[in-house]
Amino acid sequence: MYDFQTVHTRRNTDSIKWDWLNEVYSVKHGEEILPMWVADMDFALPAFIEDALVERIRGGVFGYSFPGDTASQSVIDWVAKRHGTTIEKDWLLYESGVIPSMSLAIETFTEPGDRVLVHGPVYPPFRNTPANLKREVVTFSLTEFSGEYSIDFDKFEAALADSISAFIFCNPHNPGGKVWSREDVKRIADLCAKHNVLLISDEIHADLVFAPHKHTTALSVAESTDHIITCMAPTKTFNLAGLQAAYMIVTDATKRAKLKESAMNAAHMGMTVLGTTAMRAAYEHGEAWVDELLGQLQHNMNYVADRLHEEVPGVLVPMPEATYLLWIDYRKLGITEKDMMHALLHEGKLALEPGTKYGPEGDGFLRMNVACPFETVKDGVERFITAVNTVK
Ligand SMILES: Cc1ncc(COP(=O)(O)O)c(C=O)c1O
Repeated sequence: MYDFQTVHTRRNTDSIKWDWLNEVYSVKHGEEILPMWVADMDFALPAFIEDALVERIRGGVFGYSFPGDTASQSVIDWVAKRHGTTIEKDWLLYESGVIPSMSLAIETFTEPGDRVLVHGPVYPPFRNTPANLKREVVTFSLTEFSGEYSIDFDKFEAALADSISAFIFCNPHNPGGKVWSREDVKRIADLCAKHNVLLISDEIHADLVFAPHKHTTALSVAESTDHIITCMAPTKTFNLAGLQAAYMIVTDATKRAKLKESAMNAAHMGMTVLGTTAMRAAYEHGEAWVDELLGQLQHNMNYVADRLHEEVPGVLVPMPEATYLLWIDYRKLGITEKDMMHALLHEGKLALEPGTKYGPEGDGFLRMNVACPFETVKDGVERFITAVNTVK
């Protein structure tokens, strides 16, 4: 029903994914490289979002604005429908992004020198954001078996008990694509409460979960929720990152007041009118689109896994339970990351994310974004095979 096959030209559109290759990968032939790195999608907006934006723009007046009650209602309904979690309008605080939300929460509730816990591997801003704010970043490594991640709860609790102020939890997990179980999420939330640790629960990938897996919000299972800051957004799900839209769900009134005060002090302006318009249209009309998107993503992922299994048997492609990101395991090839990245960029002309960007636990892995038309996925796989054949 929806179009996930048209290849759109994104080069020379001020796209980070397509137009920053030379800078990010230190190459001079960026225009020849197929980018499958940054986590955004190469699909165009569905008509129900485009129409809402066009309608808002046409003849519009763009003075200062805020996400009003209808926008909040769309969030409340979406989180109830898609995640079975009841939230209240007052609990919502809007921000331009999940990382700005995370940064604000760290700044508000911890002090420089405080210890902030993250799990590894993890999306780089989980480490960089607290580090840039002069917090001490403490990492506990997830347990990994054949690319599947789990949490050693003894290790986790020991880490929490060691003077940790905040834990940043990636649920579902980027880069591993793990959907944490209800039991895992509950244990994490309750252990944070037990040790008086703020839980910053980044649930930006919550909508991108493949059946039969189900996302569990920390809020829906925790014994108490006063210590939880949930960060969500419509931007991954509907490809709206360039419009900047996100929200925190905070049940504790004192914490909300503190966050509002620090947002004001930092002159944060919340969400733009276009971000708000797009979010509302997405949440009001987007259920069928997301369901179809998930089918397309699974098709793309299965294709990559099958093709690489045939052509480069030493490379493992575990099937993610969520996200549009493959976490490709090439450890069996015995190639260094430097050699692999060189071959990908110069022989295959393909940009993937090197695993160590996600921490030392990511050594021997590559992250590939398959949120693109099938034709692009096929092109990417052939480039990958060409590259690997020159180094293996
Ligand atoms: C886990 C996670 N959190 C946050 C973000 C970025 O969120 P935002 O653009 O809203 O700051 C990403 C983007 O890839 C992500 O994977």
